[in-house]
Amino acid sequence: MDQSEDRAFLRQFSGVIVAFIVLTIALIFLARYMQPEPDSSANPSQGILAEQRIAPVGAVRAGEAGAAALAEMQAAVDEAEPAGEIVVDGSTVYGGLCKTCHDTGVAAAPIKGSEQMAARLTEKGLETLVYNAINGLNAMPARGGNPTLSDEQIQAAVEFMLP
Ligand code: HEC
Repeated sequence: MDQSEDRAFLRQFSGVIVAFIVLTIALIFLARYMQPEPDSSANPSQGILAEQRIAPVGAVRAGEAGAAALAEMQAAVDEAEPAGEIVVDGSTVYGGLCKTCHDTGVAAAPIKGSEQMAARLTEKGLETLVYNAINGLNAMPARGGNPTLSDEQIQAAVEFMLP
């Protein structure tokens, strides 16, 4: 390789590098044009969210102030409703599962609001009907097959089924 060849190579190679630099700068400007930098003052919740993300996970509560804060939190926990409010509404409970059998009389289930239901009520009394609904009776599974239903919910559903 003689010197003139070296020079030609260097010229071409630096030309390529310069071309890449120009291309990179052009791409940076193109990207900024397509997606301008977010203006944090435009969205006030951005700052708040950032604060929340970097907030410490725990806090030290010491002394009287700490005890008072803890007592306050404990009171709030005691007062809070259990998660997922329990519905003791007959029509809602009935609509969940009981309906599948008692609307049409699957497996000879007494149909809701029918004379059969009335006859069972006069024959056995409400308490027995509720007892049987809770514990199951022949083809009927206990609690209609939903063990999470409470006694009160079953009672409400039975009352809703009566004519
Ligand atoms: C898989 C079907 C099915 C589901 C679901 C079901 N039942 Fe029944 N149920 C029956 C059948 C069948 C009978 C009749 C049982 C018998 O007398 O042999 C019956 C009977 C009853 C009776 C009368 C009991 C008695 O002592 O005569 C009540 C009350 C009742 N069901 C309430 C409910 C309630 C409330 C639900 C929902 C929580 C429910 N059922 C869900 C099938 C079902």
